[in-house]
Amino acid sequence: MKFFVDTADVADIADLAATGLLDGVTTNPSLIHKSGRPFLEVVKEICGLVEGPVSAEVVATDYESMLREADVVRALADNVCVKLPLTLDGLKACRKLTSEGTQVNVTLCFSATQALLAAKAGATFISPFVGRHDDVGFDGMQLIDDIRLIYDNYDYETQILVASVRHPVHILEAAKIGADVVTAPPAVLRALARHPLTDRGLELFLADWAKTGQTIA
Ligand code: E4P
Repeated sequence: MKFFVDTADVADIADLAATGLLDGVTTNPSLIHKSGRPFLEVVKEICGLVEGPVSAEVVATDYESMLREADVVRALADNVCVKLPLTLDGLKACRKLTSEGTQVNVTLCFSATQALLAAKAGATFISPFVGRHDDVGFDGMQLIDDIRLIYDNYDYETQILVASVRHPVHILEAAKIGADVVTAPPAVLRALARHPLTDRGLELFLADWAKTGQTIA
């Protein structure tokens, strides 16, 4: 399973990239706003911090304007992945861009039939938003399960990128279903490594080690 971080905070991205566990980055207009930085500048900087795909979202809503914005974004670096909304214009732009060899992440997916269309349009990634789905009383993980089944039925190569992740259990469930990628806020990714029994066990081992009076290096 690939782990992407969902942020435009370069300090967080650099810190997580240093663990060797980070496979890519996703951003969106709200995260760019939160960063307080110019969009193109921050995306270019992020692309230099990770080798994997960095999703950068267009804000145009019609086909021609989406392509114009995509041209600017994909010129930033080889690892840019153009993020397009799941609309008919977005799907049309997806088909065009992927046929030219550009990676595309189709975002704001809330149904399995939308995901089916994205796969037909040749999307590199489909981003179903599990947290926002849960928020309105639907089962976000059932959506992932349905998309996995449909993609496997037809051998679609579009990767399921589980988005709008709110806690480690979303990641656990996504991994059990066999989603290809999760994108999560930095705090959720860091939380995956933590367990109170690990902390307590380490504390006890170190206390006993100190009593030996030894050093290793
Ligand atoms: C995905 O690419 C989106 O940026 C993101 O996961 C949205 O998450 P949110 O619902 O927490 O805003």
